[in-house]
Amino acid sequence: MDLKERIEKLEAELNALKELPASGLEAFRIAYAGKKGHLKQLYEELKDVPNEMKKEVGQSINGLRMLVDEKIASWKDHESSDSAKERIDSSRPGHSSATGSIHPITLVKEEIIDIFSRIGFSLSEGPEIEDDWHNFSALNFPPEHPARDMQDTFFVGKDEALRTHTSSVQVRVMEGSQPPIRTISPGRVFRNEAISSRSHCMFHQIEGLYIDKGVSFADLKQTLLYFAKEFLGEKTDIRLRPSYFPFTEPSAEVDVYWGLETETDYRITKGTGWLEIMGCGMVDPEVLKNCNIDPEVYSGFAFGMGIERIAMLRYQIPDIRMFFENDVRFLNQFRTL
Ligand code: DAH
Repeated sequence: MDLKERIEKLEAELNALKELPASGLEAFRIAYAGKKGHLKQLYEELKDVPNEMKKEVGQSINGLRMLVDEKIASWKDHESSDSAKERIDSSRPGHSSATGSIHPITLVKEEIIDIFSRIGFSLSEGPEIEDDWHNFSALNFPPEHPARDMQDTFFVGKDEALRTHTSSVQVRVMEGSQPPIRTISPGRVFRNEAISSRSHCMFHQIEGLYIDKGVSFADLKQTLLYFAKEFLGEKTDIRLRPSYFPFTEPSAEVDVYWGLETETDYRITKGTGWLEIMGCGMVDPEVLKNCNIDPEVYSGFAFGMGIERIAMLRYQIPDIRMFFENDVRFLNQFRTL
């Protein structure tokens, strides 16, 4: 059989080979492309082919080589995906990917919003940078009130400051709508205070406001009792102590009965069993007037509480700074998923 015929025969053989022979890819590679394989042999013999035929025969051997390469490449893909399959151990436990958790301040905030939304309170928000009117003047703070002092307030410009409480949102809501108004306003507030385990220059509050015809102090007390029972349990009791805020008259501070069972109860309630959780009162008629609501027709109540304080009680967190450090060891403890 001359060289040309052998090339054609090998070509036909290769074309007929649709699948990798049982002997495997390496055996095929050695037989065709190995050091002593068919291709090597043919190239050797090419030397003796008469010059005028060399080009043609050489091209046919090259064609044959391409065919071999193609076969090897396609079977290689197959073989590697087969062996990858073999390497997967489906009995091994998987890697779980790390998911985030909800910040405790958000958890408490959402729960409080939820409790008040069940009795018809809507949600409202205001800006963190406030003007003097919304943060102080409309709320009846006299010009010389110490809260306006540089020591308490972060001023941003001549008339602007970081809000010191969410009561500013009350003013915005009343200015923008007529009663009946029932709204709660969560948000971040800022005070120029020394940072310690109990106080921070930045924290969160939730403000509540209810304005309608004939709203009384009894309505305020029942609303807060409902909240305390929903949030802390059916047995929870509250008491109101007289207090003072420029924007409410009368004003009160609200305590919840925490209990005096453990040493910690003694410590956090200073031996009384009662814990202060918020300020509240009947909206001062002057404030209603400032917001274009007629105090002869309408009355209402307001209340405000610090979210950090409530979260610290609920989760027994000893230091307010933990809320702002973003230490994952702390945050991971509030997983809800
Ligand atoms: N704004 C008060 C504070 O930051 C809390 C407060 C007290 C809000 C009485 C009220 C209220 O709406 O009626 O200390």
